[in-house]
Amino acid sequence: TTGGSLYDRIGPAALDQLVTRFYALVAADPALAPLFPADLTETAEKQLAFLSGFLGGPPLYHERYGHPRLRARHLPFPITPARARAWLACMNAALRATPEIAEADARELHMALSRVAVHMVNTPEDQS
Ligand code: HEM
Repeated sequence: TTGGSLYDRIGPAALDQLVTRFYALVAADPALAPLFPADLTETAEKQLAFLSGFLGGPPLYHERYGHPRLRARHLPFPITPARARAWLACMNAALRATPEIAEADARELHMALSRVAVHMVNTPEDQS
């Protein structure tokens, strides 16, 4: 679909596929997998709800769980710069594996998520 927001351009079906692919890659990434629960179903549901609102669509995360407080929610996990890069690399690979998302939209989404990922870093590299 076309429209003003990134959410409108990507659409809920492609966003769902992206999130599913992303967590399959996270589960296979040795730098990231140890941080996450074995069953990523709920994590993926929350991420899909968050991205919906973040990209200008329905604010599903806020409706279901309240304010995301993303940095505070990530503090229990040692997120080093290397882990942030690994997270973004998984997202980039998931975007490339989702041809329903146009190249320009994929780039815009990746840039927006890069800014959030940098903000999630809470642990220096040598203390991972
Ligand atoms: C939850 C890691 C970046 C959004 C989580 C969880 C971990 C994690 C371990 C908990 C999973 C669970 O217990 O279900 C990381 C790492 C990142 C990162 C290593 C690297 C920088 C981001 C970014 C976003 C994000 C950039 C924004 C798009 C979320 C959301 C949740 C979550 C929405 C679910 C929060 C909840 O439990 O309600 N993340 N994350 N994360 N992350 Fe991240």
